[in-house]
Amino acid sequence: MKALRQKPLYCYPAFIFDQNLISNHPDKIPMSVHSKAKRITTHTLHEMKGAGEKIAMLTGYDFSMARILDDAGIDIILVGDSASNVMAGHETTLPITLDQMIYHASSVVRAVSKALVVVDLPFGSYQGNSKLALESSVRIMKESGAHAVKLEGGSEIAESITRILSAGVPVMGHLGLTPQSIYKFGTYVVRAKEEEEAIKLKSDALLLQELGCFALVLEKIPATLATEVSQSLNIPTIGIGAGNGTDGQVLVVHDMLGLTHDFHPRFLRRYLNLYDEIHKAVGEYVQDVRSGDFPNENEQY
Ligand code: KIV
Repeated sequence: MKALRQKPLYCYPAFIFDQNLISNHPDKIPMSVHSKAKRITTHTLHEMKGAGEKIAMLTGYDFSMARILDDAGIDIILVGDSASNVMAGHETTLPITLDQMIYHASSVVRAVSKALVVVDLPFGSYQGNSKLALESSVRIMKESGAHAVKLEGGSEIAESITRILSAGVPVMGHLGLTPQSIYKFGTYVVRAKEEEEAIKLKSDALLLQELGCFALVLEKIPATLATEVSQSLNIPTIGIGAGNGTDGQVLVVHDMLGLTHDFHPRFLRRYLNLYDEIHKAVGEYVQDVRSGDFPNENEQY
């Protein structure tokens, strides 16, 4: 009898430990800590840090894109609250709701066979109320099938982190530029350039590790500081605009694929220019429809 090689259309629960369900693209990842693992877990990430293997993380918000990211060998898909910007068109990450995050997360989870899926707790769903933080995390885990949550902040959210972890939900921290606090910062400039803020960031990083976070995002801070923090921790750090000394990197997928075209921070490397590609393709389609060229006789029944 032929082995089942096809992924089921609906892949819930997420933890199906069947090698056959994992895409086997020949160009995929050389043998390493994470390619030996069937599914990336928080433990795999810890091993990767120990082995000096860099961790690749991208954001993802929908089924089709998540399937490509997972097939291409991404380690972590972050269902970021940046969905508020790139999917919903809001100026900040503040308006996105818990229900909307769960909708995005469940779409991503259905696509993924290997990557760890981490979901942002949105603004207003955890700050200042550890019971609410636990409730929000439990909803994300139960209703989306995701594997972990991410929260922004340090000592001020320690109680929330402790409560979430006590329920067995893995937590990723996020320090530096934390976009949910944009109205406190007033600007998206580099954080922790001044000594006082750098000292607080270092002590928050240690605290998050002590509380039990499995990894830490460091956003838009000086590369030297990010390197120092990464070397001082046992848990992996994932940088965005934090230089090359972190244990991994994350980008917003719309930015690295060039779907957004009016955002040019220094840290962003664009791997494609999809805005122009799609613009050209849609222009051609419009022309073909208007001229009567599409559909032709081979494209009809
Ligand atoms: O929401 C997001 O996309 C993020 C990343 C920038 C780390 O938090």
